[in-house]
Amino acid sequence: MMPPRSVMLLPSAPTYIRNNDVEHEYRADSDLYYLSGFAEPGALMALYSEHDSHRFVLFVRPRDPAREIWDGPRAGVEGALADYGADHAADVATLGETLYELLMDRQRIYYAIGRDRAMDEVVLRALHEARRRARRGRTAPTEMVEPSTLVHELRWKKSDDEIAHMERGAAITAEGFVRAMEVAKPGAFEFEVEAALRGTFRRRGAERCAYEPIVASGPNACVLHHIRNDREMRDGDLLLIDAGAEVGGYACDVTRTFPVNGAFSEGQRALYDAVLSAQREAIASVRPGASLVSVHQVAVRALTASMIALGLLEGSLEERLADESYKRYYMHGTSHWLGMDVHDVGMDWLDGEPRKFEPGCVLTVEPGIYVPVSDDRAPAALRGIGIRIEDDVLVTRDGARVLTAAIEKDPDALERLLKAR
Ligand code: GLY
Ligand code: MN
Ligand code: MN
Repeated sequence: MMPPRSVMLLPSAPTYIRNNDVEHEYRADSDLYYLSGFAEPGALMALYSEHDSHRFVLFVRPRDPAREIWDGPRAGVEGALADYGADHAADVATLGETLYELLMDRQRIYYAIGRDRAMDEVVLRALHEARRRARRGRTAPTEMVEPSTLVHELRWKKSDDEIAHMERGAAITAEGFVRAMEVAKPGAFEFEVEAALRGTFRRRGAERCAYEPIVASGPNACVLHHIRNDREMRDGDLLLIDAGAEVGGYACDVTRTFPVNGAFSEGQRALYDAVLSAQREAIASVRPGASLVSVHQVAVRALTASMIALGLLEGSLEERLADESYKRYYMHGTSHWLGMDVHDVGMDWLDGEPRKFEPGCVLTVEPGIYVPVSDDRAPAALRGIGIRIEDDVLVTRDGARVLTAAIEKDPDALERLLKAR
């Protein structure tokens, strides 16, 4: 994909200090991990095409027995060559003196400037050095291009291997939800449910949660990013859980909402049925040629019709779609791409048009209705109820496959499951 005489530079993710000498958990940069499998910090990958041989250079932290006592083993220069298939590897500390050599006589640099100031400094110094040395027929680069234009397009469509990771993530997430439903009873705290999810994910070998789990009971479900998870659940509450395991570097992203006492109230069930049928319609519309926009439109139309039927909105469906008053109760999008990042990369629009789905792309479908406790315009029985139902959907050649279909969402089946606890 890279034209001749170009070089791509992909740094590892930076580390972040939590306090003093303690760091936040490290997670590899998704682009670097996608292309190399290399998950250590302090690295830079350089890729370039030289006539017909494609070159892969990896700058890494060298082996260091004293440091490795604290942080564990490093691949080092030797491992970069032997285990990661680099054509050439070097100590990352030499980057300052040698990087310009990789830029000489190349026209284009693929590098995401502005994301990592320390790395920007290294790259810009190398560029300056290359310009300084450009004479007698030797040249320095004249273009800098965002590497995501290539790498994110590759990541957008998943291969069979990637889908296998996502299927495993879905299976582990399903187990987490089963365990969470066992724990979520009146009198238990949201954090106990979070612990059940995290415990199950890790026990089954997931690397981590793909994002901070949202365990939101009662009115907390109307706080879209409720991650404190510190409320005691009460009889009569719904519990909204939005959580997913990360497996092989791939995210799973699922939401289920259910009554902690095992039985939906009439108002809860009416809203639940509205969200579920909107979600089913939206999923049924996923196929090659559809788009994030078209799926959202299907969900919004179904949800808005239900909001009118349930007394949340007045007037006609077309009026309420036109003035977007449904946003009072449904204020987020229906879908995002899913992959190594939970909100995954890939363009949503191409040439001013919503991008059409192709086999291999994966998206979420996650409609919801959220009625704040304080909303005195809403029927009293619906206030303080927040519901979202979210699944992960793979676009196939002739339609779609729900990767997370094993996680129960049928309301009668959910009640049976919950009552059997
Ligand atoms: N859990 C984040 C999302 O659903 O987009
Ligand atoms: Mn989610
Ligand atoms: Mn999502």
